[in-house]
Amino acid sequence: MSSIQKSIKRVTTHVLNEMKLKGEKIAMLTAYDYSIARILDEAEIDVILVGDSASNVMAGYDTTLPITLDNMIYHAASVVRGVRRALVVVDLPFGTYQGNSKEALASSIRIMKETGAAAVKLEGGRQVVESVERILSAGIPVMGHLGLTPQAIHKFGTYVVRAKEEEEANRLMEDARLLEKTGCFAIVLEKIPAKLAGDVTASLKIPVIGIGAGPKTDGQVLVLHDMLGINREFSPRFLRRYHNLYDEIAGAVKAYISDVKTLQFPNEKEQY
Ligand code: KIV
Repeated sequence: MSSIQKSIKRVTTHVLNEMKLKGEKIAMLTAYDYSIARILDEAEIDVILVGDSASNVMAGYDTTLPITLDNMIYHAASVVRGVRRALVVVDLPFGTYQGNSKEALASSIRIMKETGAAAVKLEGGRQVVESVERILSAGIPVMGHLGLTPQAIHKFGTYVVRAKEEEEANRLMEDARLLEKTGCFAIVLEKIPAKLAGDVTASLKIPVIGIGAGPKTDGQVLVLHDMLGINREFSPRFLRRYHNLYDEIAGAVKAYISDVKTLQFPNEKEQY
């Protein structure tokens, strides 16, 4: 190992806690493959989430439900090979942890052994506490996920903002406290009112990372394909697009096609 490699300070769950204590915001993005993970890591992202959003943006499904544990392991192992600094968290896919804590542990152990990632994430509150406990018993860090939980889309029926009503907001606050008490090292809050997200963040010691949850959380997460503008169809209010990669890629592909068809590629220097 070179001295440069040795000097890189890994982001761990403890580092995230220190960041919360110091008021330093946590930046998290998704990645699903080696090349992109390497770019994110070298740009010094704090956390890389191998999200089950891969089901949508990589595999083209309408929901996150079809992606399998084997698929997630393939994506996560590819990501880990590109990362030297960031904390890599992997989503437990639908059907691998709900209602069966032994299966939750077995799925998490496969993720940790076969990918080299540092933590798993799962969706839900009180209904997954037994699974969280059992995963933690093996020394595997767990990130929670409350608010809009896409694996439960068929229960909600829509992707609208969650916990606007007092009853659901109170339940979410209780679930967040329960996940903290059970031992989760962090929680993602998705698409809930900014005020509620701020209240949850203030009442927990563990870091809270928001997506569509306003500015008062300890950090933010976005799906990389959304923030780079690779998806044109998905444009919720919370999304900030930092690039328009769809048009950039389409433009480059069109230029290539034209060069091939007009015999401008390859030129004299681009051959042996
Ligand atoms: O799967 C995913 O990308 C996620 C983020 C939206 C938090 O869970």
